[in-house]
Amino acid sequence: MAKLNFGGTVENVVMREEFPLEKALTTLQNETIAVIGYGVQGPGQALNLRDNGFNVIVGQRRPSKTWDKAIADGWEEGVTLFDIEEACEKATIIMYLLSDAAQIAAWSIVKPHLTAGKALYFSHGFGITYKERTGIIPPADVDVILVAPKGSGTSLRRMFLEGRGLNSSYAIFQDATGTATERAIALGIGVGAGYLFETDFRKEVYSDLSGERGTLMGAIQGIFAAQYDELRRRGHSPSEAFNETVEELTQSLMPLVAENGMDWMYANCSTTAQRGALDWWKKFRDATAPVFKELYDNVASGEEAQRSIDSNSQVDYREKLDAELAELRESEMWQAGATVRSLRPERQQVEVEA
Ligand SMILES: NC(=O)c1ccc[n+]([C@@H]2O[C@H](COP(=O)([O-])OP(=O)(O)OC[C@H]3O[C@@H](n4cnc5c(N)ncnc54)[C@H](OP(=O)(O)O)[C@@H]3O)[C@@H](O)[C@H]2O)c1
Repeated sequence: MAKLNFGGTVENVVMREEFPLEKALTTLQNETIAVIGYGVQGPGQALNLRDNGFNVIVGQRRPSKTWDKAIADGWEEGVTLFDIEEACEKATIIMYLLSDAAQIAAWSIVKPHLTAGKALYFSHGFGITYKERTGIIPPADVDVILVAPKGSGTSLRRMFLEGRGLNSSYAIFQDATGTATERAIALGIGVGAGYLFETDFRKEVYSDLSGERGTLMGAIQGIFAAQYDELRRRGHSPSEAFNETVEELTQSLMPLVAENGMDWMYANCSTTAQRGALDWWKKFRDATAPVFKELYDNVASGEEAQRSIDSNSQVDYREKLDAELAELRESEMWQAGATVRSLRPERQQVEVEA
C-alpha cells in the first residue's frame, strides 16, 4: 500500500506494481466469482476477469436481451452463464451488479445463497449505506466489499483492451473471514482497476450522488442553461450562445484542464480572459455553495436515495423518463448544439440546412 500526498493529505493507494495480477490470481484461485447482472458494469467486469484468467461465471435473468448479449459475448449456458439463483448458489464471491433498484427487487433470491465465508461485492455503496430503505442487510458471517470503477463499464473494458487500468475506489464494510481486504483488492486488479483508492461505503455513495447531481451533471447543465438563456435574452444568436457556453468548453478548454489543470489553463489564456475568470470564479463559488450544501444534506439524510428508489421502481418509469429527457433534447440550447456538432471538421457528412 503506497501513501501518496494529495495536496497536503496523505492517502492509501494500492498500485498494480505492488499487487500484480499473479498475486490476485493466487489470492482468488479457489473462488468461483459470479457476476450478477450483465448491464453496463457487468460485461466490463466479467470480461476483464475472464480475460485475466479468473474463474468467473455470469448470472442473468431470462428471457432477456441482456441474456442474449451475454451469449453473444461467449458466455455458455449451463457452463459459465446461469440464471441469478443458480449463479449465486455456485459462487463463493457474488458480485452484485444489477442496477441499484434491481438489487432491491432481487435481494430475496440472492440472500439465501450468502452462506458463511462467501463474499458479497458491490460497485456502489448505495444498497448497503441506505440499508434501512433498500432492505439489503447481509448476514454477519460473509465479507461485504466494494470496488467502484470511476467510469462506465464501457470505459473499463475499453481501457483494459488498451492495456490501461481505470482508477477505482475500494472499501470493506464487513470482514467476516479476515481476508476481505485481499479479496477486494484482488478483485479490483482482476476487473481492470488501475490505482485503487481506499474509501468506505458511505463516503463512496455520498460523494458519488453529490458529484453526479453536482458538477458532473446537474450543476453543469444548470449553469449552461443560465448562461445560454441570458445571452439569448440579450440578443445573441443560438449559435453564438452555444459556442460561448458549451462548445468552446468541451472542445478546447476541458481537454487542456484534463491534461494540465485549471491553474495551467488560466495561466495560458488571453490576459483579458484571465482577468475576468480570476475576478468572477469566487462569485460563482459563493452563489452555488448553498445549493451544494443543500444537496449534500439531502444525500446524507437519505432523501435523494429514497427519491431514486421510488421513481426507479415505478412501472411507468421509462415513459416518464423519456418525457423529462425530451425537455432537454428539444430545448433550443441542445438543438443548437446538434447543429454546431454537425459542423465540426471531423464530421464526414456536414448537415447544413438549406
Ligand atoms: N453504469 C456504470 O458504468 C457504473 C459505474 C460505476 C458503478 N456502477 C454501479 O454498478 C452497479 C451496476 O450498475 P449498471 O449501470 O451496470 O446497472 P444496469 O446496467 O442498470 O443493470 C442492468 C442489469 O440489471 C438487470 N435487472 C434489472 N432489473 C432487474 C430485476 N428486477 N431483476 C433482475 N435483474 C434485473 C438487467 O437485466 P435485464 O436487462 O434483463 O433487465 C441487467 O442485467 C450499480 O450498483 C451501479 O451503481 C455503475
